[in-house]
Amino acid sequence: MFKAIKSFPETRLRRLRKDDWSRRMVRQNNLTVNDLVYPIFVTEEQNGTKIESMPGIERIPEKRILKEIEEIELMGIPAVAIFPVISKEKKTALGEESFNSNGLIQRIVREIKRKEFNIGIITDVALDPYTNHGQDGILEDNGTIDNDGTLEVLTKQALSHAEAGADVIAPSDMMDGRIGVIRTELEKKGFKNTKILAYSAKYASSFYGPFRDAVGSKSSLAGGSKEQYQMDPSNSDEAIHEVFLDIQEGADMVMIKPGIPYLDIIYRIKQEFQIPTFAYQVSGEYSMLKGAIDKGWLPKKAINESLIAIKRSGADGILTYFAKEIAQDLR
Ligand code: PBG
Repeated sequence: MFKAIKSFPETRLRRLRKDDWSRRMVRQNNLTVNDLVYPIFVTEEQNGTKIESMPGIERIPEKRILKEIEEIELMGIPAVAIFPVISKEKKTALGEESFNSNGLIQRIVREIKRKEFNIGIITDVALDPYTNHGQDGILEDNGTIDNDGTLEVLTKQALSHAEAGADVIAPSDMMDGRIGVIRTELEKKGFKNTKILAYSAKYASSFYGPFRDAVGSKSSLAGGSKEQYQMDPSNSDEAIHEVFLDIQEGADMVMIKPGIPYLDIIYRIKQEFQIPTFAYQVSGEYSMLKGAIDKGWLPKKAINESLIAIKRSGADGILTYFAKEIAQDLR
């Protein structure tokens, strides 16, 4: 491409970097509010509670959810992803509360949809907030995760979300075949416009710690790992295979998770498939940045840099706990 005959001084790349206007004029990637999805934690408790390992993020009580959504809609953020914080007494080995048609998520989705906000509601399909062992699936007697048994529960959970009015179902459990069975069920029950955002390449990552504090699955997990179903951080070809299967099974959008440590995966997937591709800047990434910024060790601009890096790698949108903060700055 660059068979340069002449270079310096004819070519000076600094010319276009010199002024603000020229930097803006040639800028290849821009972050806009439309790139952001805001993950929120909702709790059954009466009052909101702070999450110690995620400074600035709160578990929002049900009674405040409409106000919260209104605020987010006003900022122009196109969608929220809702995660439940369930009381210990409701957690069971099989996670039955996950498909309770009158459970926390189902109630909240119905409440939000009644108001006809101009905002997409994404719900998480996985059992970890509902199981007393903190795994995303149900266990066989020997302690392994029962893939096919879990599919039945996930299908019920997904259907209950669709019935409540969820716009997007987002399975984050990493069971094999779940996109297919959920899509089949949705079609069968007439939910032909319910979208599926598949957490296709979800890695067994250490960066989920603060999220597990937030939903209380860390204590349930009691040191257990998710390596039986989430991807090995050492692999990248497998991510292509995962995404391929999810598209075939009926996913409308795919996701890579975490974000910054997996930019090569985002890049490869977008190059390979050219379908709507999302990245999740997860709780640990948030806490690292937020912690360092709060201490004055990093400037706040580090947030924008992390988000533009994710976009540059090919993501069409980013789930980030910084969404509100950044949306405000982008105005
Ligand atoms: C679990 C789930 C996790 C996250 C989203 N859904 C954690 C996990 O797999 O243990 C993590 C999100 C984050 O860290 O911000 N189904």
